Amino acid sequence: MACTCGGHNEALFAQLDKVIEQHKDQRGSLISVLHKAQGIFGYLPEEVQAYIAEKMDIPLSEIYGVVTFYALFTMNKKGKYTFNVCLGTACYVKGSGKLLEKLQEELGIGVGETTEDGLFSIECCRCVGACGLAPVITINDKVHGHLVPEDIPALIAEIKAAEAAEQN
Ligand code: FES
Repeated sequence: MACTCGGHNEALFAQLDKVIEQHKDQRGSLISVLHKAQGIFGYLPEEVQAYIAEKMDIPLSEIYGVVTFYALFTMNKKGKYTFNVCLGTACYVKGSGKLLEKLQEELGIGVGETTEDGLFSIECCRCVGACGLAPVITINDKVHGHLVPEDIPALIAEIKAAEAAEQN
């Protein structure tokens, strides 16, 4: 099946073919294949699910059911930088809800969404074990603590500046 999802090149599907080939005859291997496919593509869009369905001879509805059941799988493309706002108790009482609001306002996206340029995503999480720094946001696993909503534009600007410098 030809890829119609733009940005997914043949090399990625060739890698997926190898994974499917390795698991084809093993019973109960669907989760392993999906897990590896997510590792290859970064997420599991419908095109990838349909491809696996066809190659493994499994109904697409079954694959869709597995992907939506397990929190481990995502159908949304993640941004290069994921802001993970901690909504654990310590962070929440210190205002992480306000950080989340500001972040959504600044980036123009909601939780679980990605900006059109593919740069930013917003997620929420439970306690990340840095309560002493509450309220906390992690950006690609790097912890930023003691934040106030006014810090958010600077965090975004810093990343954009770094990206611009990388392009030049
Ligand atoms: S509650 Fe946010 S780090 Fe613990």
